[in-house]
Amino acid sequence: MLSGKHVLLIIGGGIAAFKSLDLIRRLREQGAKVTPVMTGAAQEFVTPLSVSALSGEKVFRDLFDLTDEAEMGHIELSRAADLIVVAPATADLMAKMATGLANDLGSTLLLATDKRVLIAPAMNVRMWEHAATQRNIATLSGDGILFVGPGNGEMACGEYGPGRMAEVPEIVAAINAALADGPMAGRHVIVTSGPTHEPIDPVRYIANRSSGAQGAAIARALSALGADVSFITGPASVPPPAGVRVIRVETAQEMQAAVEAALPADAFVGAAAVADWRIETPHTSKMKKTAKSAVPSLSFAENPDILAQVAGMAKGRPRLVVGFAAETDDVVAHATAKRSRKGCDWIVANDVSPSTGIMGGAENEVVLITQEGAESWPKMAKAEVASRLATRIAEALA
Ligand code: C5P
Repeated sequence: MLSGKHVLLIIGGGIAAFKSLDLIRRLREQGAKVTPVMTGAAQEFVTPLSVSALSGEKVFRDLFDLTDEAEMGHIELSRAADLIVVAPATADLMAKMATGLANDLGSTLLLATDKRVLIAPAMNVRMWEHAATQRNIATLSGDGILFVGPGNGEMACGEYGPGRMAEVPEIVAAINAALADGPMAGRHVIVTSGPTHEPIDPVRYIANRSSGAQGAAIARALSALGADVSFITGPASVPPPAGVRVIRVETAQEMQAAVEAALPADAFVGAAAVADWRIETPHTSKMKKTAKSAVPSLSFAENPDILAQVAGMAKGRPRLVVGFAAETDDVVAHATAKRSRKGCDWIVANDVSPSTGIMGGAENEVVLITQEGAESWPKMAKAEVASRLATRIAEALA
């Protein structure tokens, strides 16, 4: 049941738009309030009058409708609902969402929202199977967008295959699932991410090539499952995900302090590429090169091993501690040894040899090492690695 729930329904311009009329009725039967938004093309398929009559609400259509802005700005409109549903989600709307375009009311609401978004794609089979749409699907699922359908079947255009919008009962079920608390609701997870910068002097530092992409994707995926995420990140090159608590640090020691401050947690995911060593005593002023000066030598000290510390906590240890192992050879053997050396529950291991393009790239090929052994996952987008891992974490904590 959906009583007390508020759904913002964006109706895209496709033949399946007629099903959204029934969708509105079914949602209202379950007690939901439905605020409808129609794209220009949607109005060619169903009339705003029918949508307004069935929803019992004003239909929002135009970004530049000043009356609407005075009554309710588009930012407020995008946030007032509990869930945003796009049905039908056309190839065009999905492409806009994937690239962050905001050139009409629907796409602007989708970019401005801080709520979960569920889409019901509907398009011709060729359009669905096109590489561009498939890329957009991967991007959108990486962004935490929820999907329902499409189904296989006969289409209005006479072709057969995937692309048919999910049937209304299926969409209603997906809306119910999305509005129920996710499997990670009430769970606190700490995710470390990105590289650390270890200062040599006030302007120089030692760093590594970690982009923070995998850690950010994991935090986003955990948050999409309802987790409360503390995202502790070094100076990464990708932005942190929305909807998580972001704690920015520079050095390994700062990261360690931030982790201690964020504890207790149900799970700890150490995806950061923490520098193993720091400069023992960084210079307090910039080291100068003079004609007579010798080449400086740097003296190193060992950094705290954050993962090993969290895994070894005698009291208050997170129930699940997950580490990463970036290896360049003998991945499984080294990672298995690392799992026992660090005392963590799981190790997500990958081969970061430059030839794999994984470091800083969009894809990852990992082996999950658990107490049961090694599980090789096929090469997939980092976002997909993240959602699979988040699902496994949710199962482990259930
Ligand atoms: O020992 P190694 O750096 O290969 O281990 C990698 C794993 O340990 C990662 O999960 C990383 O976040 C974590 N780590 C850590 N603190 C360190 C070094 C590594 O938490 N000082």
